[in-house]
Amino acid sequence: MTAIATAQSCANIAFVKYWGRRDDALRLPLNASISMNLDAATTTTTVAFDPALAADEVTIHGAEDGGGAARRVSEHLDRVRALAGIATRARVASRNSFPMGAGIASSASAFAALTAAACAAAGVELDERALSILARQGSGSACRSIPTGFVEWHAADTSAGSYAESIAPPGHWDLRDLIAIVQTAHKTVGSSKGNALVSTSPFAAARLAEAERALPAIRRAILARDFAAFGEETEQEAIRMHAVAMTSRPSLLYWSPETVRLMHAIRAWRDEGLPAYFTIDAGANVHVLCEGAHAGAIGARLRAEPGVGDVIANRPGPGTRLLDGHLF
Ligand code: DP6
Repeated sequence: MTAIATAQSCANIAFVKYWGRRDDALRLPLNASISMNLDAATTTTTVAFDPALAADEVTIHGAEDGGGAARRVSEHLDRVRALAGIATRARVASRNSFPMGAGIASSASAFAALTAAACAAAGVELDERALSILARQGSGSACRSIPTGFVEWHAADTSAGSYAESIAPPGHWDLRDLIAIVQTAHKTVGSSKGNALVSTSPFAAARLAEAERALPAIRRAILARDFAAFGEETEQEAIRMHAVAMTSRPSLLYWSPETVRLMHAIRAWRDEGLPAYFTIDAGANVHVLCEGAHAGAIGARLRAEPGVGDVIANRPGPGTRLLDGHLF
């Protein structure tokens, strides 16, 4: 058994969103979702099981976390310990290449990398599907960061049926996600909480039906590299997710004034003939989707917009992989 291992995972951006669960404990989603791994937004995580430790030690970005994040990491390590048949505590260090908790799926890359590193360190050998199922229980969207490229997460009533798999490799389509950072502070209501409030929205059932209709259309558009069809459906789906969030009780409003300003700007650019669409996760930052040919022009326009602090330019990214070097 190797006692130490390191894994790296990309965050992912969902085109059909995971928003609402049929089972909270197992994190089984209401609807299937589709995403793309983001090659410039990664989490690297080292896990070492050490018999000398009395408790798990979790360091995120150099700072020790004794709070909520560390508890969630420990609970996930318990799942791996149960599979390995060990009780040994672990030292965990994790580093992101992007700001945490700002609407980039930091829990997705974090729990995908944690799953792969912890399994490797504990000597638990799982195939991609089993890793995806395990990552899902840590954070739903994390299951989509295990496979490569463009990914679909199946909805099912059983844990074994709800895993993610690749529908196309990164090289299939030169789609870009330019993330316009308008907020780097931790959002006030995390997606775990938002996911749990879905049933309180009067629009939940309508949005679910629309997500189920949109999914095959978005899958087809990705496979056919049909940017206009892809963008139209993806933008509408994001707005539907936020309509549910806004009409939940309590109401969740993730958009800042800069978010709305960018939504208008992107639509105006489109009217001028510059093909770009937006999607937004549970935060204020705007993910601007375009093809490689227009990424330079759109990136320059985004950087010139007031309120945009940084732009993280992503291409389709790889799946979770083990690295040779460790963080400690
Ligand atoms: C808006 O995966 O963060 O990003 O399962 O509670 O950890 P938990 O939720 P999480 O939710 C992600 C929500 C989303 C949409 C998506 O990525 O599909």
